[in-house]
Amino acid sequence: MFGNLETLPPDPILGVTAAFRADPDPGKVDLGVGVYRDIEGNTPVPAAVREAERRLLAGQSSKTYVGPAGNLDFNERIVALALGPLSGQLRERTATIQTVGGCGALRIGAELIRASAPGAVIHVSDPTWANHEPLVGSSGLALQRYPYYDPATRGVAFERMIDHLDRLPAGEVVLLHACCHNPTGADLDPQQWAAVADVLERRKLVPYVDLAYQGFGDDLETDVAGLRMLAARLPTLLLAISCSKNFGLYRERAGALAIVAESAAAARAIATHQARTARRMYSMPPDHGAAIAARLLGDAGLRQSWQEEVTAMVARMKELRRLLAEQLAARRPDLDFSWLVRHRGMFSLLGLEPAAIVALREVEHVYVPPDGRINVAGVSHANMDRVADSLARVLARPRPD
Ligand SMILES: Cc1ncc(COP(=O)(O)O)c(C=O)c1O
Repeated sequence: MFGNLETLPPDPILGVTAAFRADPDPGKVDLGVGVYRDIEGNTPVPAAVREAERRLLAGQSSKTYVGPAGNLDFNERIVALALGPLSGQLRERTATIQTVGGCGALRIGAELIRASAPGAVIHVSDPTWANHEPLVGSSGLALQRYPYYDPATRGVAFERMIDHLDRLPAGEVVLLHACCHNPTGADLDPQQWAAVADVLERRKLVPYVDLAYQGFGDDLETDVAGLRMLAARLPTLLLAISCSKNFGLYRERAGALAIVAESAAAARAIATHQARTARRMYSMPPDHGAAIAARLLGDAGLRQSWQEEVTAMVARMKELRRLLAEQLAARRPDLDFSWLVRHRGMFSLLGLEPAAIVALREVEHVYVPPDGRINVAGVSHANMDRVADSLARVLARPRPD
């Protein structure tokens, strides 16, 4: 039966983690995996999340099924966290389903687009998170890339992006990162979000927003200002939410897919398709992580302490960015590192040659995925010197003009 299956190459990101684990070097550094790390290099469960979990377990009397749409309190509260007061205004037009993490949301959203518009093309940023194309493309939808990142400025190639979007046919879908663009770290500013909203509106394009890092860029509100602008202005929007990073719920697989439709009737129809798609793939989502997030968001005290913890996480990432830029500039005065501080979230793209990535791993024991993305949260005070020394050694010399 399975004799025709050949062994696949390792996943580009998970493969780096596996290679890192197998390396016996005591000073090895993992800059690959996309998880937050604290000053000791641990990925903690926020105290407020732990407390919500404790209360949940203390009061849980049954583990009976939750239903394909999952935890309805969670669905409402997580969308309210993303959309703010707008979520109330859009309630009738919004269909939400709890999903198996943000990945599950991205995949179910793609399945629904395929069910409704099988010829629609999904446009993803160039570059984008390594799992976007496999996740969304596995639905059978066609994928294309739009220009997004300019390696020369290490910022958004904004004019090229808008020019490109302005030539797309009506009804096509544009996948956008709400904040903390993965892998580049380069985000749109508020004026640029407004221009994106203009072009989507003008060309009748459908935004599909991936929100995996709310709170990791600046704060829980600022990070979703662009998303909210799109939700307020456009008739239809898909939103894939992940609770992995900001709630630290990674392995619990908590997320949601919210679709804002043109009408309440359309939203009711979408909800039935969401439920059927889930039922046919895995029936129902796991309860635990979403139940924890619902508890936390429904309790003013827990919510407040969680927000403070998210604030501390983002402050640490910004401080690491500042320190790393300073350390690199001291070692490589020929290069500009101000972009490291301008970038948002955990990731920045270093622009390393493949040979440099191999040298980092084999000579320096510093692990970076094949696209040269680094997770700044993988840097700590203990490994800062090794990281800065090794990166300074492998970063290319600027080319003479
Ligand atoms: C850009 C982006 N979207 C979505 C996700 C989904 O994460 P999860 O399925 O763990 O919730 C991730 C996780 O790394 C991500 O980086």
